Amino acid sequence: MGITDELTRILKAAEEAAAAVTDAAALESWRVEYLGRKAPLAQLSKALGGVPPAEKPAAGKALNDARAKLETLYGELQERTAGGGQATAGFDYTLPGIPPNVGALHPITKTYYEITAFFAALGFGVYHGPEVEDDYHNFGALNFPPDHPSRDAQDTLFLSDKWLLRTHTSPSQIRVMTERQPPIRVLVPGRCYRADAPDASHTPGFTQVEGLVVDRDVTLGDLKGTLAAFVRYTFGPRTKMRFVPHYFPFTEPSAEVHISCAVCGGDGCSTCGGTGWLEIAGSGMVHPNVFRNVGYDPETWTGYAFGMGVERVAMLKYGINDIRLFYENDLRFLRQFR
Ligand code: PHE
Repeated sequence: MGITDELTRILKAAEEAAAAVTDAAALESWRVEYLGRKAPLAQLSKALGGVPPAEKPAAGKALNDARAKLETLYGELQERTAGGGQATAGFDYTLPGIPPNVGALHPITKTYYEITAFFAALGFGVYHGPEVEDDYHNFGALNFPPDHPSRDAQDTLFLSDKWLLRTHTSPSQIRVMTERQPPIRVLVPGRCYRADAPDASHTPGFTQVEGLVVDRDVTLGDLKGTLAAFVRYTFGPRTKMRFVPHYFPFTEPSAEVHISCAVCGGDGCSTCGGTGWLEIAGSGMVHPNVFRNVGYDPETWTGYAFGMGVERVAMLKYGINDIRLFYENDLRFLRQFR
């Protein structure tokens, strides 16, 4: 058998054996067998002395090529078996992993999910209305008189003569009632906008959750009992709630919902302005004019509505004293809510 045939046979055997090399020990046996001092290749090299001079250069070159191939193969096997002997090239399973950068819900999203989950358990569905509204839905149908101050550009962000950014989620009351027939029991979470300069308690964009119930014989007691249950659930049994008479064009009677300050427990502090109470929502019984505007008979149907400030609820829940923190996208702040 000529030297080239012999080399071909050795290379083939070495390649076949390489397939079984999966750990450091197998690698070392492979090296001894094919590249060691007693390996067939080494023996062939010794035998080179007996080759006729005319064939020597070719035989020498064939030997060198074969050795180079085996060494390359050895390098590949070393790489493959590195790190715990796992058969994956260049990957060390024993190194600590790189933790994935896991995202989290924004605290406002989290809070409105919690609010809607509570009301969902009471049978409320969720409705989403548009953020771009017209004067009719945002004001007119809600019984705002034409000269009401909140229609002023100082308070409302107008996009054109016709379109504006909704200043509250109440326009969705009109949309729901126009699209459906009673009984109605919905929540409308969403972004609202007002032309406010940002400070510790105002941002030009904020979030509300509107609640609307329309049925026969709905009373103020239903409204108050429902909100009291929500307050107990969200802020704990020690938190007190009170209704403070108020005015909204679309509810009659109307009330602001106040809860005892979670920061000072009602004694008075800077968060509650020394009063011991904090406002979290506006509410009231749906005004008969609103029912008329959507074609419901106010003699047949009764209802209540409320509009809750989600940032307010989140601030009280988590003890946050500046609303702007929610919108600065500071990861050090946001990561705390993971
Ligand atoms: N839309 C009112 C506001 O933004 C809140 C409200 C909603 C009041 C529903 C009464 C009924 O201030």
